[in-house]
Amino acid sequence: MAKIGVAVLGATGIVGQRFISLLSDHPWFEIRAVTASPRSAGKPYSEAAKWYLEEPMPEDVAELEVKETDPKALEDEDVDLVFSALPSDVAKDVEPKFAEAGYAVASNASAHRMEPDVPLVIPEVNPDHLALIDVQRDERGWSGFIVTNPNCSTIQMCLTLKPIADGWGLESVTVATMQAVSGAGYAGVPSMAIIDNVIPYIAGEEEKMETETLKIMGELDGDEVKPADFTVSASCHRVPVLDGHTEAVFVSTEDDADPDDVAEAMKEFKGLPQEKDLPTAPERPLVVMEEEDRPQPRFDRDLENGMAVAVGRLREDPLGGVKYVCVGHNAVRGAAGASVLNAELLKEEGYL
Ligand SMILES: NC(=O)c1ccc[n+]([C@@H]2O[C@H](COP(=O)([O-])OP(=O)(O)OC[C@H]3O[C@@H](n4cnc5c(N)ncnc54)[C@H](OP(=O)(O)O)[C@@H]3O)[C@@H](O)[C@H]2O)c1
Repeated sequence: MAKIGVAVLGATGIVGQRFISLLSDHPWFEIRAVTASPRSAGKPYSEAAKWYLEEPMPEDVAELEVKETDPKALEDEDVDLVFSALPSDVAKDVEPKFAEAGYAVASNASAHRMEPDVPLVIPEVNPDHLALIDVQRDERGWSGFIVTNPNCSTIQMCLTLKPIADGWGLESVTVATMQAVSGAGYAGVPSMAIIDNVIPYIAGEEEKMETETLKIMGELDGDEVKPADFTVSASCHRVPVLDGHTEAVFVSTEDDADPDDVAEAMKEFKGLPQEKDLPTAPERPLVVMEEEDRPQPRFDRDLENGMAVAVGRLREDPLGGVKYVCVGHNAVRGAAGASVLNAELLKEEGYL
């Protein structure tokens, strides 16, 4: 089977590098182009990217010339699908240009996530929302389209919420995050600000968790998504961890939930990616840990190649419902891996 040609937009950053790593040996996709800012365009990737992953930079990508982030720059590259790891303000104008030019855009950026005709998808949670692609194409007259994945903290929380919502119903969710520095991008948080410290504010993060969750968990009704009918209250904090977000989650359920039954439901939880055996799908989207001091980001962020969310300390909440701690790899399950899984589902469902 011939591989689908792909490009990575914003390929030199934290998420861009994760895309390069996840796509370098992909059975369906082949990296044919990389783009970044005008500062990097024209340079070989090996020179433009400050490589931060432990594994070596793939040789064939190292040699690619970094292109400008513009559909015209990719005209000769035989690319059908672009993965976007662009800053949101750049993605806002650029991603529609790619979709209009006929590319399928799988985006990590927040710019278009909440637009009513843009699918915001976690394949295990709301794969049916991909149907919004048809609405988007009709309304905008595009031959391509934009599909987004949620914010990193929201993805891991929604994966844990899905089996609880299905089994017991959700009334409210309260979450306190402890987020890794890589979540802010390569130049994101100065070392002088974060070492020996906790920063109790991440711009826009709480709003994203509170609104994106309701779109993802909402129901597709005809041409639109009806937001889910529960409340989310988030408090987001940056901590001196390199990779892997930790979240303390407090869930109030409609029906009484026994923690042991919730743990069982999480262990058994699977979705369409597992059913279809998609290449990047983790065998266990949720890994429930019994040890009283787990999960921890240093030890648990790489479970299932960074595509699983580790859940532990699952217990009864005296306020009603259950509470637990979860850890997910923000740049893999929370970003590049999420987009790649979305793209695999797009192919499986005939959108590519
Ligand atoms: N880091 C995470 O864990 C995470 C998780 C979920 C979602 N996201 C989202 O993913 C996106 C990328 O995040 P990141 O952490 O990878 O950021 P980053 O490390 O700062 O990388 C940004 C990338 O965008 C490129 N870029 C910057 N300005 C540009 C311009 N004007 N035109 C074209 N390209 C430009 C940069 O190229 P140069 O190298 O040339 O500057 C670089 O490749 C953001 O929207 C972010 O919110 C990140």
